[in-house]
Order: sequence, then C-alpha cells, then structure tokens
Amino acid sequence: MVNRKISLGSPILDEEMKAAALDALENDRHISGENVWKFEEEFAKYVKTKYAVSVSSGTHALQFALISCGVEHGVSVVTSTFSFIASANAILHAGGIPIFAGIDPLTYNIDPDNLEKSITYDTEVLLPVHLYGFPAEMDKIMDIAEERKLYVVEDACQAHGAVYRNQRVGSIGDVGCFSFYPSKNMSVLGDGGMITTDNEEIAHTAAKLRNSGRTAKYEHDIIGYTARLNSINAAIGRIQLKRLDEWNKKRTIIAKQYFRELKELEELIKLPPQGSSYITPVFHLFVIRTEQRDALQSRLKKTGIECGVHYPIPIPLQPVYRNLYGFKEGDFPVSERYGKTCLSLPMHPNLKMEDVHFICEQIKTFHSNS
Ligand SMILES: Cc1ncc(COP(=O)(O)O)c(C=O)c1O
Repeated sequence: MVNRKISLGSPILDEEMKAAALDALENDRHISGENVWKFEEEFAKYVKTKYAVSVSSGTHALQFALISCGVEHGVSVVTSTFSFIASANAILHAGGIPIFAGIDPLTYNIDPDNLEKSITYDTEVLLPVHLYGFPAEMDKIMDIAEERKLYVVEDACQAHGAVYRNQRVGSIGDVGCFSFYPSKNMSVLGDGGMITTDNEEIAHTAAKLRNSGRTAKYEHDIIGYTARLNSINAAIGRIQLKRLDEWNKKRTIIAKQYFRELKELEELIKLPPQGSSYITPVFHLFVIRTEQRDALQSRLKKTGIECGVHYPIPIPLQPVYRNLYGFKEGDFPVSERYGKTCLSLPMHPNLKMEDVHFICEQIKTFHSNS
C-alpha cells in the first residue's frame, strides 16, 4: 500500500514570526505592551469594527462578550447543538443558561427556525457559531434578534475572514468572538482570542473583565479576571493577520480541488456547502459525511492520512451537559446523525495539490472496494 504522511492541519511559524516574538520578548512590555494595542487596532481594521479587545482565549472572548451583553444568573442564551463545547461552556461561565437549537443539515450551522422556536421569556442573547468557517444565516438571525430585542454574539472562532453579504463575520452581530488557538486559520501560536464590536460600552466592559476589573492601577469596579493576551503572542498574531487572506485563498483553492475530485462520489459522500453569491466561507475544516465514517477514517490512517472528527458528540449529549440538564439520545436527531457520519479531511494552506489528489484517490479506492 502506498503511504504518504499528510497531517490534518499544520500551524505556520516562519522567520518573520520568530523575529517578531523575539523582539517583543526583548523590547516590549510583556503584558499590555505595544504589540497588544497594535494587534487590536489592526484586527479591528481587518474585521471592520470600531473596537477589538484581545483576551487569552476564544472561550474568554465568548464569556466576556456575554457578560458585557448583560448575561448573568437566570438569563438564557440560545446556541447551536453542534460546535466545540466552549461555545456553550462560555454561557455557563457567564452565569447564564444555555438553550440548544438544532442545526440545518446542509450547513451544520444553527437553523434559524429552530433558534426562533427556542427563545424563551428569559433569553437575552443569540449565539450563532460560524462552524468550520461557514457563516451562519445572519440575515434571518439578525431579523429575529431585532424583532425580539436580543443581542447577537457571533462565535467566529473558526471563521477568521469569512464574509456574509460583504461583511466580515464578527462585525455583523453586536459582538464577534475569535480564537487564535494554533489550529485556527490564523493564530498567535499559543492560546489567545479577540472580541470585536462597534459598541463602546461592550468593548469597555470586556477590556475591564480581562484585566481584573480595573478602572485604574489598583481600583476595580467589577469582578474581573486575569485573561489578557501577552505581547509575544500578539506580535506573532500581527504577522499572521497579514497573511490571513492569502492563506484563506489557498484553503479555498484546496477546497475546490476536493469538490472537483470527490464530486463523482456524491451518492456515497456528502460534501460541505461551497458558499454562494453572498457567502464566502474560509474552510477552516473540510468536512464530508459518510455512513462508513469509521471504516474510511481507519483506512485513510493506514495510508498516512490524518483525519479528524469535529465533533463526535453534540454538546447537549456530552456527559457534563447530560448530567446538568438530563438531555438524552434522540433529543437532537440531526446533530446526532451528523456526529456519527462527519469526517474532517486534511486542510491547511500548505497542503499540496498532489496530496489532495492522493487523499481523493484513497477515498475512491475505499469505496470501490467496499
Ligand atoms: C467554535 C469554537 N468556539 C469556541 C472556541 C474556544 O476557543 P479557545 O480554544 O481559544 O478557548 C473554539 C476553539 O476551539 C471553537 O472552535
């Protein structure tokens, strides 16, 4: 059997990033240094919001965004059943109650009709996730929010640079939240996150929350956290941001190649949505669906191809959420089916076209033998 080592993702570290990190280490203030403020300014300019507040992770970005929108004990937030667990955890960290709305089977993002049905009298925030880099249906979500007078916090942790109706995600709702974990489309090569908003009060509260609730050096008017982004990681993030569009273009070219080569298997494999006249996804992940997921994954592994499963268990069916709220199998059929059939193929800007071809050939061979 021909073997080729191909990784699922591949964080990028180059000489310019190393030099920037070293320069920050030697010359910048390690906490709250110039690189942090510049990164915020540059990120806000990129997303096109008035403010960007850096934090120590995407989870903290979500938590502080929610608190800044008024989430506290007794307030509910509607979010997707299908995401990384942090999307829902942040609601609990903020003191709120998560309400789970099922996904659209074609886009794997929250279904706006389910979202609307899930709103209760104590809901104050909607938290859609742009999963795998594919924007959620923001027009419908924003209409619902406007009618019900709710805040919208976008979980854009997997969607840096994705566009919905000429707007970058993270600038459509009241607040956007990003993660810079190393596997993301851009990262700080450590943990990190960003909150984007046009709302001065939200930006101000979020900035205090990350910094021990400070109003002055030793004066604090809220209970805050130590959750700042450090200057060395910010320096790396600034370089990565400059490359983001070029990397996203490469991801899109790779995705197109997958679409072209796998099209003939459409009866057996469901391909992800490609985008449309008004949606430009950024292919954080390239996720197919197949009934033979586990067998295909182990076959690809044998030939050196690393795949992933994002995610095997819908959030409400995670043991911790079952224990908290009593959710059980059958409560979220679309997400459960999805969790059993989804498979993430290798996707990163440095993936070679011959590797994509090799992966597609292996998938075809698997199906012709099964
Ligand atoms: C959709 C989503 N939300 C939230 C997060 C949390 O971000 P972090 O890992 O930086 O806390 C992630 C990161 O993996 C994510 O993918």
